Amino acid sequence: MKGIKIKGTGRCVPEKTVTNADLAAIVDTSDAWITSRTGIHRRRHCRGETHTSLCAGAARAALKKAGVPPEEIGACIVATVTADTLVPSAACTLQRELGLPQDIPCFDLNAACTGFLFALHTMECLLNASPRKFGLVVGADTLSRITNWEDRGTCILFGDGAAAAVVECREGWSSIGAELGCHGDDRLLRVPGVETGHRSLISMEGTRVFKFAVEAVPWCIDRVLARTGRTVEDVDFFVFHQANARIIDLAARKYRIPQSKYYKNIGEYGNTSAASIPLVLSELADLGRVGPGSLVLTVGFGGGLTWGGAMLEFA
Ligand code: COA
Repeated sequence: MKGIKIKGTGRCVPEKTVTNADLAAIVDTSDAWITSRTGIHRRRHCRGETHTSLCAGAARAALKKAGVPPEEIGACIVATVTADTLVPSAACTLQRELGLPQDIPCFDLNAACTGFLFALHTMECLLNASPRKFGLVVGADTLSRITNWEDRGTCILFGDGAAAAVVECREGWSSIGAELGCHGDDRLLRVPGVETGHRSLISMEGTRVFKFAVEAVPWCIDRVLARTGRTVEDVDFFVFHQANARIIDLAARKYRIPQSKYYKNIGEYGNTSAASIPLVLSELADLGRVGPGSLVLTVGFGGGLTWGGAMLEFA
């Protein structure tokens, strides 16, 4: 089996910043509560932007960074739960917007906040069966459009954004060793779909999701290390889904990961769902903190329930 590496990353976030103080004006909360319980200071919300425009912005930036023309892409996956339209999918819309080839699979993937990792694994499998060697994976969500603005337990958490990675697949490269899982549960975290009588707004039992996450993260780290035959010390950088700074700090403490080897941008963006992990990857790449040869262990978890980890390498 051939493996994939990250060739280039890009991101696109809405301009509008919503601070904790802005939210305290609409629900009974405070900057002090949100900051201490979550680590979030502000987040971005779409005003003029759309899911499509964010995806296109992120994907164009990633293609440019990778130096790969759209016509060389062999598959496109958008991980999301908030595409502008169910049909066409965000990925099909992106095919048209970017001028991707027409003889390739383009589709959306729903694994909530773990979507980007599910999509990377799927892409690795697809490219193994493709004559083309590059793939485009986008993580994008505009959760502000399905947020319940009367629920202070959830509305403070989420932000909008998109980020993308162009990956390359080659003989001789190691697999990302993805370890993915799910446990069907529609009580802890739920967004109704086309059921009748429900508005499609997020509902969540925060404390129980928190406990689930605290157990899922070490499970993923242990499984990925075992599968790839690596140790914590081998890893150059740890990238965690940005759902709550406390979850990230607990994992860092458990594995004695020095501060120089992990990163939090949750303070700036909140939880951007499927965009969260590639948003971190893209910022780290631009900051020069990861680059060719870097080994990055990434971990995600979210609605479904879903969870996963993978060992990413930069080309
Ligand atoms: N502002 C002020 N008080 C709030 C509040 C807010 N925004 N949201 C909840 N509270 C209150 C609750 O009403 C409760 O009050 P009570 O003790 O009088 O009943 C108290 O704060 C504690 O609530 P609780 O829900 O137990 O807080 P918590 O410490 O679990 O923090 C979350 C809540 C949502 C921040 C936390 O559970 C969390 O981050 N969970 C994981 C969420 C997540 O990762 N989701 C996405 C998965 S991808």
